[in-house]
Amino acid sequence: MTARPVAPWWKRGVIYQIYPRSFQDSNGDGVGDLAGIERRLDHVVALGVDAIWLSPIFPSPMADFGYDVADYTGIEPMFGDLAAFDRLLAAIHARGLKLLLDFVPNHSSDRHPWFIESRSSRSSPKRDWYIWRDPAPGGGPPNNWISDFGGSSWEWDAATGQYYLHAFLASQPDLNWRNPQLRAAMMRVLRFWFDRGVDGFRIDVLWHIVKAEGFPDNPVNPAWHPGITERDRLIQLHSTDQIEAHAIAAEFRALADEYGAKTGDERVLIGEIFLPNDRHARWYGTLERPQVHLPFNFQLIETGWDAALLRRLIADYEASLPAHGWPNWVIGSHDAPRIAARVGEAQARVAAMLLLTLRGTPTLYQGDEIGIGEVVIPPDRVRDPQDLRQPGIGIGRDRSRTPMPWDTTRFAGFSAVEPWLPLNPDWPTRNVTVQDGDPGSMLLLYRALLRLRRREAALELGDIVLVDAPDGVLAYRRTDDRRQLLVLLNLTSQAIGLDWHGVPLLSTRDGAPVPGTLRADEGLIVA
Ligand code: NOJ
Repeated sequence: MTARPVAPWWKRGVIYQIYPRSFQDSNGDGVGDLAGIERRLDHVVALGVDAIWLSPIFPSPMADFGYDVADYTGIEPMFGDLAAFDRLLAAIHARGLKLLLDFVPNHSSDRHPWFIESRSSRSSPKRDWYIWRDPAPGGGPPNNWISDFGGSSWEWDAATGQYYLHAFLASQPDLNWRNPQLRAAMMRVLRFWFDRGVDGFRIDVLWHIVKAEGFPDNPVNPAWHPGITERDRLIQLHSTDQIEAHAIAAEFRALADEYGAKTGDERVLIGEIFLPNDRHARWYGTLERPQVHLPFNFQLIETGWDAALLRRLIADYEASLPAHGWPNWVIGSHDAPRIAARVGEAQARVAAMLLLTLRGTPTLYQGDEIGIGEVVIPPDRVRDPQDLRQPGIGIGRDRSRTPMPWDTTRFAGFSAVEPWLPLNPDWPTRNVTVQDGDPGSMLLLYRALLRLRRREAALELGDIVLVDAPDGVLAYRRTDDRRQLLVLLNLTSQAIGLDWHGVPLLSTRDGAPVPGTLRADEGLIVA
């Protein structure tokens, strides 16, 4: 018998996103830090995930909470220093976990020395590291592009008499990836962290990094209405997803593979990419010239919660993948509303089963494992720059960034002082310690699902076949050459008659599964 090839860790494994500002504060400033994360690693191990992705930890004025990087190879003092980072990385590796950092290539902070130099004069050697343009012929911004956070994408610089481009805040100037020196400098950044031992990167807004030559106006979006973000007034045809960006992704991948080959331990790249399936799939590259391992798939965040919709979404996504493309699924993040806020606690349990039983690498966001739901942020505590600039349309991201509640002590064990964002209001009962002792808790469901996934190769690596089911039920089989599992998800709050057979392995509901029925809000895995 020939031995099966061992699948790489990033195919079998589960990624856990930590938002460093809100995981654990160790120095009493109300903001999480690296030493805090190290202190809480036992939680991550007990949960049963395989890799940690840390949102940015680099020096930053925090205008966009770390996505405005002022030094790509340092550590933000609020979070610690390089020694604290090395300790954390060693502790993560000692527990058999992997660590992914967040690489933010599209833009830096306006406090980055590169931008300060670029801005200093038109003849600065770094002028071309950013995107500078003269005003439009009649005056005003060079084109109609709109920033993702609202307003023009162009900021006037009176001192040098030109505009610079920023896809996000004016304090996040876009870097010019058409400039070879900038490109080389950023490749050195990746090497710096690979040399320190990180296992890969999540790459921020990867599909944004190259803009169309000539900077044409973006077309108007006929579907725009005032209830959605200003950005959506236009279709980002020329400001994103340019063909040249794929060559850069391939270059990142070649570097990751070089490190993988050198150390025998595969390094993984995840691209943050919001695009329709056909254009999304291109970010895998080809077998001969691959790009990112996992172009993040956010469709579970964006979909309505309905069995028929989900079935179509899964089928279409699976059909869009290139033969060498491994799927992945995301259901929560620091940018998206909490899943439990969207669908309620009972369905959030079904969502947990969905996320951890679909074919492909799941990413689980901190706090979802205890089912944090809606958190209303009082107006005077709103911090999210996107929300502050476009209030009233419900896009606030703070509600998903609230601190982890660990126990019933003051400030939920997160910090010795009032945290930078409020806790979830139900923290005295919804926290890690309380749920750890409650067999019916979300936390124990997540642990059970993760254990089952690790035990059942068919769940980790098997095929998926969608199965016909009564209205309201999403059903699929996960199979390999040894085992066949059936996943039945009741997306409604009514019991549904369904004649399932076999051995129930796990239900999202308490008590024994009922033959001939899927109980209300029940997800069930049957062998
Ligand atoms: C995507 C990140 O997830 C988000 O938090 C950030 O604001 C933007 N990229 C800009 O970096």
